[in-house]
Parts: sequence; structure tokens; C-alpha cells
Amino acid sequence: MPLVPRNAISPMPPLAEGIGLPWDVPVDDAVAEIARARAVHGDTFVVESGRDRYLFTFSATGVESFYALAEDKASKGVADYLMLRRKLPDEIFDGRRTLPGSLFRKGDVASYLVNLEHALAATRAELGPSGTVDVFALTRRIAHRMGLASWAGPGCADGESFERLVVAFDALDGADAFVHPDAMAAVAASGKAAEHAALAEITEVIGEAVDRRPATDLFARIVAAWDPEPDPVRRAGVAWDVALIHIASMSNLASALGWALVDLVEHPEVQAAVVAGDRELADRCALESTRLAQRSIMGRTVLAEVAFDDGDQTYLVSPGATIATLLPLTNTTAGPGLAEWRPERWNRSRLADTSMLASPTLVTAFGHGKHSCTAQPFSLAAMSTAVTDLLGTYELRAGWTSYPRPVPAQIGGVARADGPCPLDYATRH
Ligand code: HEM
Repeated sequence: MPLVPRNAISPMPPLAEGIGLPWDVPVDDAVAEIARARAVHGDTFVVESGRDRYLFTFSATGVESFYALAEDKASKGVADYLMLRRKLPDEIFDGRRTLPGSLFRKGDVASYLVNLEHALAATRAELGPSGTVDVFALTRRIAHRMGLASWAGPGCADGESFERLVVAFDALDGADAFVHPDAMAAVAASGKAAEHAALAEITEVIGEAVDRRPATDLFARIVAAWDPEPDPVRRAGVAWDVALIHIASMSNLASALGWALVDLVEHPEVQAAVVAGDRELADRCALESTRLAQRSIMGRTVLAEVAFDDGDQTYLVSPGATIATLLPLTNTTAGPGLAEWRPERWNRSRLADTSMLASPTLVTAFGHGKHSCTAQPFSLAAMSTAVTDLLGTYELRAGWTSYPRPVPAQIGGVARADGPCPLDYATRH
């Protein structure tokens, strides 16, 4: 019997020749590149980039089939790993005992939100009564402080330990793999030197926190999982569990909060209702800003042959290929009016009206199906709390002259702004 080659797709969809992904070839705009391929080849096509083969799908049935793929046959975990390993040192993936998926047990979110209140108080103290701050630097610092208070152990969200961890996590940031994919060749060429140094720093700071128990609930769980081990295995194990959790939290939350602030500053009438305490409206605003800022490539790496139906054709996809879709290409165009910021289109965390969509799965902020974000309720609560607090404390005035642009090479996660995004603030009287 003839062997089916690795990556084979049968029948073979159109191949988007001359199109590559930003890890492998320089591109001006990674999303525009895939949009160009779609304009030429339709809703299903193949991109071959570097050693990888991607089956992109954008039709209603294709996207529904994508979200229905079983993890043991077409894996999100493997696709994420293959992306993140371009940036993160190998050892961080080895032998983890507490994973980001276990962050949201009963009671956990409440304790993270208390830490957010502390982070907001520290932010007000740092900002003082008036000044200018970069929106995304501000939201990133808030997210670092809340996250490290929630899972990094006592003392890690304040003072020198906090500042050391911020510098180290900014260097280690796994999101660079998809925010700055064009920088990954240099990361590989350096042998991940900066990342190894950052992980060593994180291990030292969090290792000290292990000795400072008692701890927060989550940190206590992480430490307990390593209790039987001798030092320094225990310290490194705890620190790397925390590191992977914090890196997962850094993928989207801080930037989504940044866009929510930007959009509310741009819409003073909605802002007034949020400041007056309309919490449901704040949630809708957070969802709407996140939807519009989505730049996620969603991938599933095929582990065992799957039959993939895009509505016109069923393809047999062999192990090694990745089935993918790209949220920015459907989120704003799958129906009329989706390019506009209209928070009222959301009813709780669903679109109020999906009648104009060929499939509800074509639009999303937090994903669909079994892999949809486990952190969604927490993230929405955190964003709403933070925007309500900041807008209630300060009059905010846009220092940008035109709406901020995403980093053009970015292909994954929520958009990062390409360049400074200054915000003038003054305490409300
Ligand atoms: C506004 C903030 C966030 C957005 C927009 C967001 C978005 C998403 C999306 C779109 C997915 C589905 C990906 C796919 O199907 O391939 C996802 C999954 C996931 N997210 Fe989030 N996320 C956010 C915050 C967070 C935070 C703070 C964490 C905590 C560490 C987190 C942890 C996860 C995990 C563990 C999954 C995988 C779930 C699974 O495979 O079962 N997310 N997220």
C-alpha cells in the first residue's frame, strides 16, 4: 500500500502560491496577506510556509467544522505549543503540574478580583492627580500586578520583587511568538539567551516566595504539588508553573483592556453610562472592543487523519498539517455593520442577533466550542471593573490623533498597538 505523505490533504485545495507567514518570510501585514489569498482562492486554501502546511478555512461550515474538531485528532494544545516554542525555552513546557486551564476553580475568580482592586489602588497612587500615560503600558502594568498577586506568591506584586518580575516577564513574553513573529529568527539565532536569563530571574524571585509561605489559594496549590521534591527542583517547578500561567494570562487580557479604554474614550456618551455604574454595558463594551481587536490565528495541528468538511467538499487531512482560521477575517465582515463598535450587539456574552450570519461561529471574542476561553467570565469582570474604576477616577483625553493601528506583523491574540498611544488624565472633581 502506498504511504500517505505527512501533511497530505486530499483532495488538495488551491495552494496560495507566493503567500507565506511572518515567521518564515517578511510580510507587510500578516492579516492582509491571508485576506489576499482568500480573495483569490475563496474560503478554503492551503498556505505552505517554512516546513508547515496550513489548511485555512473561512466558510460557515468550515469554521463550524473547525470548532468541532476533537483534541485527540486535531490539537489546539499542540498548535499552541508549536507556536510558543519559537519564543519560550523548552524546559518551561516540561513536567508542569499546575496548568493555566486550572486557574478558574470555584472561589478563584473572587480572589483575583480582590487583587485587581489592590492593583487599581496602586495604579492610582502611581499615576497621581494628573499626567500623561501610554494606554497599553498602563493596562499591562495593571495586569502584571493583578496576575502576580494572584498566582506568584507573597510579596511578588509589590516593591523590588514586582519590578524585577515585570522586567523578566516582558523579556520572556510568549506572546512575542505571534505579536512579533518576524523577530523569532533572531530569538532562535541567539539560542534564546534573553529568555533563558529572564526565566532564571523569575526562578530566583519566585523561588524566594516559596520560602515565604503561607500563600494565596492558587499559589498554595502550586507549591503543594511540588512539596515532595527536594530543592532546587521544587523551587524551579513552582516558578515555571507560575511562569507558564502568567505568560498565558499575558496573551490577551492587558491589550483587550487597553482597547476597551481606547474605545470608551472615543465614545463619551457610552462612557458616561459606564461611569454611572451600568455594569452590563461595561461588559458589552469589553466584548465589543475585544471582538474588533481580535487578530487571532486559531490553529489545530492534525495528529490522526481527520475528515474535514467545509460545506462544499470533505478533505482528508493527514497528521502534521494544521487546520486554521483567522478571526480578523470573519469577525468584522461576516455580516453587515460588523466593522463598527456597537456594544449593544451583545446580550450577555452572546450576539443578540445572529440572523444576518451564515453561522454564529463566524464572530467571536473568546472563541467557540470546547476550547473557548476558560477565563472569559474573569476577564470580562476584570475589564469592566478596571474601566469603571479608571474612568470614574479620571477625566481621560485621547493623546492619539488617529485611531491606533495594530502591529502589522502580528498574527495571533488581541492586537497590540503599533506605536505609542498617549492618554492625558486628570482627577475628576
Ligand atoms: C480578554 C482576554 C482574553 C481573550 C480575548 C481570550 C481569548 C481566548 C480565545 C479566543 C480562546 C480560544 C482559542 C482557540 O479556540 O484556539 C482562548 C482559550 C483559552 N484561554 Fe483565553 N482569552 C483571554 C484571557 C485569558 C486569560 C486571562 C487566561 C488565563 C490564564 C486565559 C486562558 C485561556 C486558556 C487556558 C484557554 C484554552 C481553553 C481550552 O483549550 O480548553 N485566557 N482564550
